[in-house]
Amino acid sequence: MHLENGRETIMTRTMSALALALMLAGAPALAQNAVPAEPVGPKLPADVRALLLKEMNAIEAATQDIMNALVRGRSDVVAEKAQAIHDSFILKQEMTEADRKALAEAAPKAFVDRDRAFHALTGDLAEAARTGDAERQRALFGEVVEACAACHERYATNRFPAFAE
Ligand code: HEC
Repeated sequence: MHLENGRETIMTRTMSALALALMLAGAPALAQNAVPAEPVGPKLPADVRALLLKEMNAIEAATQDIMNALVRGRSDVVAEKAQAIHDSFILKQEMTEADRKALAEAAPKAFVDRDRAFHALTGDLAEAARTGDAERQRALFGEVVEACAACHERYATNRFPAFAE
């Protein structure tokens, strides 16, 4: 009994030490993932930032509409809303050439690439919806949500500070 307890103590201690070592070893790697790149919004000229925020609110509304449509089997609505995000209702339509240049100068290339990949993904979702493939629509919608959160975690901790905790 005593021996059992003793063993347990040693085991527990060894395990805590191991856990600590793992945590410390893992810290830099985790930190690298978690440490966000510099927030993009504050670096943008005010008018371009306003357009970005307008776009974000529009895509959030569209994303909510897509979820409502997905759970109702309304592929037609999914196709319409996903296509609207893909066609980038605001940034593409309202940004002048000068705005576009300002965005490219202020935001890192990785951010612009991420935005491009995000829009491509919504194009795939619209396509899946047009063919009526329900399973693929749901899988792609999951990727869309992942893309929103991943970009915010990296480039928008000013706006979503919980990601920086
Ligand atoms: C390529 C990066 C990127 C992607 C992808 C992205 N966002 Fe954003 N989002 C941002 C940035 C950057 C900000 C903060 C801008 C600022 O600080 O002014 C932001 C801000 C927002 C805001 C706050 C708007 C406001 O008025 O304050 C909402 C809501 C939002 N995003 C929703 C979404 C949703 C929903 C998705 C996915 C469907 C998404 N975003 C995808 C970069 C992204």
